[in-house]
Amino acid sequence: MLAYDSPTLSLPARTSVHLFRSTFGCEPQALIRAPGRVNLIGEHTDYNGLPVLPFAIAQSHYVAAAVGQGPCFELINADAQFPAKTIAADALPAFSAAGQWDNYFRAAVLGLRDAGFLTTEHLAGGMQIAVASDLPSGVGLSSSSALVVAFALAALSVHACRSVHPVPLAEILAEAEHYVGTRGGGMDQTVCLLGKKAHAIRINFFPLEAEPIPFCAGSQPVPRICLSDSGVRVEKSGTGLLRYNRRPLECRLALEVFRRRAASMPDRLPPLDSIRHWGDLVKPPIALSHKAVLEAAAAIFDHPSYSKSDLLRILGWGEGTWADFTESFPEPADGFKLHPRVRHVMEEGRRVEQAADALRAGDWPTMAKLIAASHESCRDLYEISCPEIERLIETGANAGATASRLTGAGFGGCVLHLVPADACGSFDNEMRRQLGRDLRLFEAVPSQGAAIL
Ligand code: GLA
Repeated sequence: MLAYDSPTLSLPARTSVHLFRSTFGCEPQALIRAPGRVNLIGEHTDYNGLPVLPFAIAQSHYVAAAVGQGPCFELINADAQFPAKTIAADALPAFSAAGQWDNYFRAAVLGLRDAGFLTTEHLAGGMQIAVASDLPSGVGLSSSSALVVAFALAALSVHACRSVHPVPLAEILAEAEHYVGTRGGGMDQTVCLLGKKAHAIRINFFPLEAEPIPFCAGSQPVPRICLSDSGVRVEKSGTGLLRYNRRPLECRLALEVFRRRAASMPDRLPPLDSIRHWGDLVKPPIALSHKAVLEAAAAIFDHPSYSKSDLLRILGWGEGTWADFTESFPEPADGFKLHPRVRHVMEEGRRVEQAADALRAGDWPTMAKLIAASHESCRDLYEISCPEIERLIETGANAGATASRLTGAGFGGCVLHLVPADACGSFDNEMRRQLGRDLRLFEAVPSQGAAIL
């Protein structure tokens, strides 16, 4: 009990415990920390089965929790923008409006129930939960997935469930987040659970594998990783939902077209009936090179964008198949941009492999080139940048960063800057001076993943 008051606990950790006591009048049974993440490189590759290279950061959510007083979940948050919520156990699947914070709780608990880790008896016991945090939301640091992880660990912990290995747990929670409507991949939940101090985590998908790679000094010392906040808030489950989901859909449509047209190129491509993701093309048993896939894609995609009627014709689909496949996604006015998306995804997957080698070798000049190339591709091919981010990229270069890129889903949020260790002092001041205004800047320190404290 005393440990919860320990001064070694961070301020938000102690805040969550105090909030729990003052709200529920008893002691919490568990205290969970779940960190945010910064993605060094590998944007929008995860759901395509290609690797990513993120790291967990110090900024985290803290959840103090106990079994409830009956079949009801009571949630309170120290941040007033997230109002208290009470959810009856039988109303868990009745999700609130998009972007509401209780949806992450519902997703976590329903995901654990679907996977057989929480039973009807557990749910009937309810929970009391208090959240405090120093992880900002809507800035591209994966605050939402960290919350799902924190809630899941809290539920498993207070209901004394058998421990779940972090790899399957990450897979369950990535799937569970689809409950909130986003069609994202598994990067955020995996790095939140498996992050390691002073390491980035190279993550492969389908099957999920995580390899910690230390930040090594080479001919240059390890640079500082600085984040600047564009001030553009995008919740991928709220205002950003359609813009985010359009990309995974375009990638899946592109794969359908690629598979179909590959059948008429037997001299260049093997049968591709079994592939489920773009990454399957470069893994055994198919194991094409990235270059071969990109060349085949250039031959296959004869237009920069496709209308719905183009795709119905190419794929031989009727309206019903289309509605099932796209979940009735509205047709974008500028069409489905299949080839640019595929180019980004395949080239970005290759860059992640090169970046993992550069990190291992402490080759920071190569890392800087890859980070800059990743940003250009996110901006031009995947179209997930915005003017505010571009301004920060340009200012970063003038203020002494060796490379900068957007990090996370895009459309707003934070920019990551690689800053030489000896330029630490001047970078922040120079950014603010050049922008002529105050700016939220913070350092991203590779930290340990989620834990039951
Ligand atoms: C969000 C998603 C991730 C990933 C990134 C983009 O953070 O949750 O799965 O797709 O966007 O790299």
